Amino acid sequence: LAQASKILLSLTPSEVAVLKEGVHFLRNKADGKSYILYKEEDTLRACKNMCKHQGGLFIKDIEDLTGRCVRCTKHNWKLDVSTMKYVNPPDSFCQDDLVVEMDENNGLLLVELNPPNPWDTEPRTSENLAFGEVQVRNSQGCLFASVSCLLSKYHELHLPLFLSSYPTLKKLAEKRPDVPIYVGKTERPVFWFLDQSGVKLTNINIVPFGVWQQVDKNLRFMILMDGVHPEMDTCIIVEYKGHKILNTVDCTRPNGGTLPEKVDIMMSDFAGGASGFPMTFSGGKFTEEWKAQFIKTERKKLLNYKAQLVANLKPKIYCPFAGYFVEAHPSDKYIKETNLKNDPDELNRQIRKKSSDISTWTPKPGAILDLKALHSNPFSFSLGISDPPAGTKIFKESWDFDLYLNVLSVAIEDEVFRYPSWVKEYYTWAGFKGYNLVIRVLEQPVPKHLTSDRHSLLDLVIFPTENPPIQWSLEEKVSIMRHVVKHGLLWDDLYIGFQNRLQRDPDIYHHQ
Ligand code: FES
Repeated sequence: LAQASKILLSLTPSEVAVLKEGVHFLRNKADGKSYILYKEEDTLRACKNMCKHQGGLFIKDIEDLTGRCVRCTKHNWKLDVSTMKYVNPPDSFCQDDLVVEMDENNGLLLVELNPPNPWDTEPRTSENLAFGEVQVRNSQGCLFASVSCLLSKYHELHLPLFLSSYPTLKKLAEKRPDVPIYVGKTERPVFWFLDQSGVKLTNINIVPFGVWQQVDKNLRFMILMDGVHPEMDTCIIVEYKGHKILNTVDCTRPNGGTLPEKVDIMMSDFAGGASGFPMTFSGGKFTEEWKAQFIKTERKKLLNYKAQLVANLKPKIYCPFAGYFVEAHPSDKYIKETNLKNDPDELNRQIRKKSSDISTWTPKPGAILDLKALHSNPFSFSLGISDPPAGTKIFKESWDFDLYLNVLSVAIEDEVFRYPSWVKEYYTWAGFKGYNLVIRVLEQPVPKHLTSDRHSLLDLVIFPTENPPIQWSLEEKVSIMRHVVKHGLLWDDLYIGFQNRLQRDPDIYHHQ
């Protein structure tokens, strides 16, 4: 049975705006079904109003002084909706979380992912492993589990990464075009750009969510959707001889927060900062102080969320590995200095504080973890790990920028840019409409071969409307912008790749 998402209840933006802190009992008038929503500061949790015991209805628990518990009207079981754990009977069941999503207008949706625990279908008992049979190694910034060769998540995150990813895929395709690649059936196709890129990969398999994919008799994997961005983000469970590895990297709320507990290894991102917001914004409230405070708060929230998620799931080993990106080019100096990232060791410390029986591992380049060795020495975690020589560097110190810049600068002189209408054509295609758009194109960095008269700024004002509700101002780098336009790439690539500087007046979030 494939995993699907279903909207159970929606609240309008005005209903959301008046939501108070605490417990809310909600009812879908169309089908009469009841739900519970709990709000505490920025946290929203929701579940069906249906007791795990025999399906009774919960009501407010007047004996509860915390304001977090509800009581079942049938036999008095009690549920703490801030944790979704039953407190009566104590240490018993957990209530299944629904996914709480905000839509683009700040309305709220309660979404159910079905079936809730697809990995429990056809369960397998864990078999003994041999030394070396399952190893996880950090090789050039990527973690590989040596039991499998799955490229399950290809996500166009930053423009530089995006460009470096296609060269990587190109090299892969030259060596072995038929390498099997599996991706989830996301609404936005993962390889939407493959045909235009010229990369020839012939064995891409799009698989449904929440269904075991058998690789051989011992190995299977399952791709799950993200609760916040189900249209493009995924996470994966790989199981070998009954031992599970869960990888949630780049997933904001993997599978809506419902994930397998006590897996052998859980791997995730840790850093934050993979968006142009707010560093690329200026004007209005976007002062340096505001941005610094926002970044500090967001990083802290991410760290707390990850630490709590890991503590709840209780993997044997937790491994924060994804987030070692650096805005290396000199023109990105400001972003590098302001876009602070979380420290994986700090995350590990928080996890161990919450749950001392979880082992944590921050893999250094070249490090290897052997699952058998860890199972053999559960009390001496370090015996299962081979670390690289002391002093091994985590970040690269020099970069071959020309590999990317040369590709980008090719587009500058393309014939299409002799016609000024390209600007309007592109931004109409990209969905900008109904407001003034002011674009200032910068030459930064300057490609070596261009003459000085091409370095000047080019100011353009397009889409003036009689009564513009919003004015957007963009500064973009000419080479990157023209590359994006010429190849029909998404405006979003410019944005999340820190490639433009933005102002909007008034400051209203606008989703197209
Ligand atoms: S049905 Fe809820 S306590 Fe029995």
